[in-house]
Amino acid sequence: MSSADKKQLMDQRAGGFQAPPGSRSAGASISLEDIVSLCKRRGFIYQGSEIYGGLAGTWDYGPLGAQLKRNIVNEWLKYFVDGWDDMYLIDTTIIMNPKVWEASGHLDTFHDPLVECSNCHMRFRADKVDKNKCPNCGKAKTFGKPRRFNLMFKTNVGPLDDEDSMAYLRPETAQGMFTNFKNIIDSFHPDLPFGVAQVGRSFRNEISPRDFIFRVREFEIMEFEWFLNEKDWEKYFEKWRKDMNAWFKKLGLDSSKVKEHEVPPSDRAHYSKRTIDFYYDFPSIGFDEIAGLAYRTDFDLKNHQKKSGKNLEYRPKDGGKPFIPHVIEPTFGLDRHVMAVISNAYSEDVQAEEKRIFLKLPAYLAPVKVAVFPLLKNKPELVKKAREVYDMLKKANREGMPGARSLGEVLWDDNGNIGKRYRRQDEIGTPHTITIDFDTLKDDAVTIRDRDTTKQERVKITDLVGTLSAHQ
Ligand code: GAP
Repeated sequence: MSSADKKQLMDQRAGGFQAPPGSRSAGASISLEDIVSLCKRRGFIYQGSEIYGGLAGTWDYGPLGAQLKRNIVNEWLKYFVDGWDDMYLIDTTIIMNPKVWEASGHLDTFHDPLVECSNCHMRFRADKVDKNKCPNCGKAKTFGKPRRFNLMFKTNVGPLDDEDSMAYLRPETAQGMFTNFKNIIDSFHPDLPFGVAQVGRSFRNEISPRDFIFRVREFEIMEFEWFLNEKDWEKYFEKWRKDMNAWFKKLGLDSSKVKEHEVPPSDRAHYSKRTIDFYYDFPSIGFDEIAGLAYRTDFDLKNHQKKSGKNLEYRPKDGGKPFIPHVIEPTFGLDRHVMAVISNAYSEDVQAEEKRIFLKLPAYLAPVKVAVFPLLKNKPELVKKAREVYDMLKKANREGMPGARSLGEVLWDDNGNIGKRYRRQDEIGTPHTITIDFDTLKDDAVTIRDRDTTKQERVKITDLVGTLSAHQ
């Protein structure tokens, strides 16, 4: 590894976040540093391989980040998969036959332009850097002509490390949908249009990973291919465009921070005849892509048919002429969703003359739904009663309760005084906290506190599950 490569790696390892020049804050005053710091402090997201100094472009999700991500995926599945009778969820491999990537065009075209500074030898994405001055050493006019850099990670399959065993980590999940198109048709005989969806990891050897989890080398995509008759593409492009906007509303994202961007032909992916990117106003980054909607035509199926020699045509049930369906693809970057949801929820106010940071997450996305506190940790009678309440809520989650929905993650918290516990739970976006105090021992009622208003109400323990589940 050259010393410039090492330096680049070390810079990225040192946290992986540098505000880009001219960046601005999305919220009134929040910056990406605020988000990164909260995520680390409270256990949402950590630097990947942190104890070894990190690894550029990788981040690990801690317990709260993993729960939040799971909640977003669950909502996405409910919204885009479970709500439709003609959507098939699949789960395909990350490593595929390399011919897939020849047919899909990724081997030939999945490149970013790379430039190298002739002075310090740092490398940059040519389209993301001021071409006149190296951002690392500051020297002017040191970049030569951009060269093409393929973003796919290579690996070897099996015990031989040679050309024949070479394979790639998938850069998108979509190809699993195309290679299983015939299987779905043969097993389920769907009518057109129908969709095949997938949520999974993708890998891109980004030249310059940056901005926390915004541009990383290993990330997750939620996407589906909507197979249709060519004549219907515009109708369904519009339909999914509307539904994508409705999805961002459902997530609670501030509508002034979401906008569409019609991608000009020169910037479209090699397979697309029309693309609209959805941008979110990320703190410190500004408006940038969170999701996309592409009309992929019959590009992928046609090329897979040619390369594999397998017939990938759809046979209309009315006996019409078989044809290769066209495809509309809505795609959503999961990590960018996590970042948008946290940034959107990040709030500050003043409570009891002190600044408070809290995450105003919709209850269904909050990683912890309810936290249970014994008022005092050193009073065994309070701890015992609080444990009973906590166990009851956990049991309601495990086994369900008549008339009550699953509550989601319930947390026990007896660390520090009650004020500190409130602050901690507010910062992770817990919608409700429950305190068991001395009155509870007499009246079997607890105090529920609302995260956003900080208002408190007394609720009988017997009514607790119903009350909480009504708030979800
Ligand atoms: N199958 C289509 C496809 O993969 P894409 O626009 O290249 O489309 C989908 O990627 C989404 O994945 C993007 O809208 C973006 O939100 C997210 N994404 C792309 N590259 C990423 C990266 N390096 N790190 C994090 N998210 C990324």
